[in-house]
Amino acid sequence: MNKDLTIIDTMEGLFSKERFVYIETFGCQMNENDTTRMVGLLKALNYKTVDEPHRADLILINTCSIREKAEHKVYSSAGRFKRYKRKNPELVIGISGCVAQQEGERLIKRLPYIDLVFGPHNIHRLKTFLADIYLKRQKVVSTDLYDTIDDGEYVATPIEGIKAFVSIMRGCNNFCSYCIVPYTRGREVSRPSKEIIEEIKEYAGKGVKEVTLLGQNVNSYGMSGGDVSFTGLLRMVCGIDGIERVRFVTSHPKDISDSLIYLFGEEDKLCRSIHLPLQSGSNRILERMKRVYSVEDYLSRVSLLRRLYPDMSITTDIIVGFPGETEDDFKETMEVVRTVRFDGIFSFKYSPRPMTLASTFKDQVPEDIKQRRLEELQRLQKDITAEKNRSLVGRTMEVLVEGRSKQDASELTGRTTCNRIVNFPGSPELVGKMVGVFITHGYSNSLRGIYKERSRLCS
Ligand code: SAH
Ligand code: SF4
Ligand code: F3S
Repeated sequence: MNKDLTIIDTMEGLFSKERFVYIETFGCQMNENDTTRMVGLLKALNYKTVDEPHRADLILINTCSIREKAEHKVYSSAGRFKRYKRKNPELVIGISGCVAQQEGERLIKRLPYIDLVFGPHNIHRLKTFLADIYLKRQKVVSTDLYDTIDDGEYVATPIEGIKAFVSIMRGCNNFCSYCIVPYTRGREVSRPSKEIIEEIKEYAGKGVKEVTLLGQNVNSYGMSGGDVSFTGLLRMVCGIDGIERVRFVTSHPKDISDSLIYLFGEEDKLCRSIHLPLQSGSNRILERMKRVYSVEDYLSRVSLLRRLYPDMSITTDIIVGFPGETEDDFKETMEVVRTVRFDGIFSFKYSPRPMTLASTFKDQVPEDIKQRRLEELQRLQKDITAEKNRSLVGRTMEVLVEGRSKQDASELTGRTTCNRIVNFPGSPELVGKMVGVFITHGYSNSLRGIYKERSRLCS
């Protein structure tokens, strides 16, 4: 008999048994999306997901390496699972994601009870990895990076609920001086638009109403491997029947085009919110970060967006304590935050990362100064967000109802087009519907309201 067929037979036998998988995910929406893909692949191999790690035959930790603290979570998490292996020697423990890519073989040396280490470009090989572990009783490390995406590498995965996240590209070519992503996710490659559209149509057929397109720098979609521009892709996605809302993250300020800005006015389904990471309000620091735009460029994009769409929500990422950041540089960041009045900020203390240029800079900022600057920035933004949320009281906003509220099961929760969370009392039949909610309260992280009617009113 053909030797390959024997292996295939054994593989089929291997995966005919029902098994359980527990997955812990850290990091960004790309990693969440990778987890969804892994769940899809494992489902086809007869694995069911469980919420209790002690019931699992396979434990996967999908890791993030963006800051040192995120990386450390891998070790504490893996440490917790080690004891299950003592009770169940057949348990397979694997590490995937950005720390897996960064550390590779070293992870197995440091954590000898780990069986599997694989990077973000190798997810679709999971079946072979598991077969090697079970049938050949060997550990697997797979951290190759590729410049192309294999056919079928990203396929539609099982989705619950009305929202889906779809990767439209992989990797990043920007090499911002602080960032590890280009090293862990490789070079930027766009998926063919046809494949993306087919995936979204499949979700729409299963009741998905809102889709978020994912990429480290979505504005450069199509520049490396794609067949349409990002604006072209958005038009195609907005044209899909059943999809009512389209969002995307993340936009790089250097690549956001006028055509994208005008598209918000042309496509009703395109949500009025944009995440546009500023990183710093000082031109000197932006230059050292290799961000390739100035504060003035950034402000001109924001003022065009605000002029055309006064209600548009603009959120951002800011790093404090980047090497060489003086008190004056930090004050400039605070000034930009006061000027723009962001709808929300994700703020971080600079964390030196392996392989990156900024980690070699001599003028690192002391921890206590980073901490003080972070707190000052967060205090300022907390007030701005709360004021902005309070200013929405008295308006009727269009909300896509996502499900029951986690805090109170008698209430529903959803989001406005500008991505604010709204909680309100209502019947479960409204889940998946676009409704009008009259806003009665604005808090720091959410809004509260009363169900008014089915509506197409925009916020
Ligand atoms: N691709 C996106 C962001 C990816 S990482 C973009 O270009 O904006 C998400 C955020 O983490 C970044 O925007 C940045 O603010 C933060 N970040 C990245 N590396 C960091 C580091 N070394 N220290 C602290 N924050 C960092
Ligand atoms: Fe990192 Fe910069 Fe790429 Fe964003 S654009 S992922 S911050 S290198
Ligand atoms: Fe983290 Fe990797 Fe995403 S480093 S933020 S999981 S791309």
